[in-house]
Amino acid sequence: MDEDAGGRLPDRETVAPPESFVEGANVTDADLQEQFDREWPDCWARAGALLDWERPYRTVLGGEGDDREPPFGWFEGGRLNASHNCVDRHLDERKNQVAIKWEGRLGETQSYTYLDLHREVNEFAAGLRALGVEAGDVVTVYVPMIPELPIAMLACARLGAVHNVVFAGFSAEALADRMGRAESRYLLTCDGYYRRGAATNQKNRADNARISLDHDLEATVVVSRLGEELRLGEDQYGYAGLLATHSGATVDPVARAATDPLFLIYTSGTTGTPKAVTHTTGGYLAQVAWTARSVLDVEPGDTYWCSADIGWITGHSYIVYGPLALGTTTLLYEGTPDHPEKERVWEIIERNAVNVFYTAPTAIRSFMGWGEEYPDRQDLSSLRLLGTVGEPINPRAWEWYYEQIGGGECPIVDTWWQTETGAIAVSTLPGVDEMKPGSVGRPLPGIAADVVDADGEPLPPGEPGRLVLERPWPAMPASLADGDGWGPDPPGGEWRYVTGDEATVDGDGYVTLLGRIDDVINVAGQRFSTMELESRIVETEGVAEAAVIGGDDDTTGAAVYAYVSPERGHPTGDGLRARIDERIREAVGPMAVPEAVVFTPELPKTRSGKIMRRLLEDIANDEPLGDTSALRNPEVVGEIESVVREG
Ligand code: WTA
Repeated sequence: MDEDAGGRLPDRETVAPPESFVEGANVTDADLQEQFDREWPDCWARAGALLDWERPYRTVLGGEGDDREPPFGWFEGGRLNASHNCVDRHLDERKNQVAIKWEGRLGETQSYTYLDLHREVNEFAAGLRALGVEAGDVVTVYVPMIPELPIAMLACARLGAVHNVVFAGFSAEALADRMGRAESRYLLTCDGYYRRGAATNQKNRADNARISLDHDLEATVVVSRLGEELRLGEDQYGYAGLLATHSGATVDPVARAATDPLFLIYTSGTTGTPKAVTHTTGGYLAQVAWTARSVLDVEPGDTYWCSADIGWITGHSYIVYGPLALGTTTLLYEGTPDHPEKERVWEIIERNAVNVFYTAPTAIRSFMGWGEEYPDRQDLSSLRLLGTVGEPINPRAWEWYYEQIGGGECPIVDTWWQTETGAIAVSTLPGVDEMKPGSVGRPLPGIAADVVDADGEPLPPGEPGRLVLERPWPAMPASLADGDGWGPDPPGGEWRYVTGDEATVDGDGYVTLLGRIDDVINVAGQRFSTMELESRIVETEGVAEAAVIGGDDDTTGAAVYAYVSPERGHPTGDGLRARIDERIREAVGPMAVPEAVVFTPELPKTRSGKIMRRLLEDIANDEPLGDTSALRNPEVVGEIESVVREG
């Protein structure tokens, strides 16, 4: 990351946390790290203490393994309910406080107090139960950023059912795939929703998914988002009607074991198929609440806005579970940042007096490109803390965010984590640590992250290597806790979790992320598996072979580039490109359509037949090409280069 998007910057100077912030910060203990080290793993009881337990846990970290070897059982013996923790327990103190503030795409707003939220979560839980949903059943939720989305998640949690939120922009095929894998027999969807002013037909996609499923659905519930009359088939129910039938009903929260699943979410792994990640009720909720409090500095009286989509892990952890567990007001925004105007985001912050704003570097780089005049027109003085997540933030964008948005008075927390970590794992503590623009910070207290070489040996400061987690953490997925994905690395080495990211550590222990080193591309904070995209592209008629790589992009960090070799004799005109795009749109969704498709008679391969991806990356990024002597077909390199350079 020497060359950040858009130019030179002051070298990695440190920035002290602003005094005005430190005074009121949730965490100001300078020796928290040492305390956690001394008390590990019992230190995590501090996270457990943020929750209400129906039955207290016996031990913070149980399981038959030790602190390195699975199985791990966080908060073993404890029982709790996530819906109770996010809703019911706040009723005594903050019944009338807004829990969810919704900003709709068409400019609508809607507020749910904790009392309103309690009522609707109960009614929907009663409705789901009447449709047959029981503890352990998987309920798929396929709706955009509307209040019914967090309500459905909390209603599932109340029943002990496992929610499976599928990003609303995914195609019918991608939905069917995720429902099929999860054997999910219940679906919540909507009639459609607006995207830049035009209505999309979500129900159609849901119906198509149902048709292609191998199993039957018990029930589909449909929210009317477009406000038109719903056309419902067999076993389909309107959301509003279902609530009306169960008006005033209450459902006792079902106590779950700490290690029971709360939800599952699909993400892109290194294989051709989506990877299911299951998060637990106790460990997940505890670490998410703990990090929302100590890193995002969320307080009950705050208005807090995380601009991610709930379809991804960031929205699960830091729009829904973290903020609501802490009893804060969480803002839910359905729209896009530049519609209807480029000042939309700042206008929402001013109008709602947002205290904490958490977004992605891609968004910050776009805001920067649009110019200062938009934030300058609004009063942003309510802001206390800014956060970023999803990709490395270049120092220039960091500075802009700090000065233009935070007015030099809001610390920035650059938070590193993954779908697999469930919660923030590496970041500064905003009231304690100095910030270093471009570097995320030290591993949080209680988290053992390290940068190691191929042999698993820790690397000296500044040397790039693999970011690994050396000890379990409360929000680890159920599979990792059971030892799936946690093991000796390299074979015969220490037991650990390998994150797939490349990073360096400096002399102060601050981690700087360099990007993915596995077959995952991170576009604007959204993950794609190169293998998955390649398999979809080769399903297109006329395509023989495909290699997908992440090319550099100033705004989104990376862009999907596809190198495609057509079947012999197949024309490569626009028709083929259009069919590839269409296939991706159908199989995954519009967000995965490649930025560029380069046709080449052959892909560069080693003598053993492996595609040389590094080489393709270098060509895409206009980098000097390394050694090509290992290639079986070096002549194709020149051809590809000329196509790319001319195109
Ligand atoms: C990347 C999103 C640099 C990283 C929460 C990680 C980051 C992947 C940062 C996970 C950050 C996340 N700086 N890179 N602050 N945060 N990443 O699963 O490559 O959608 O492995 O989870 O995003 O993406 P995921």
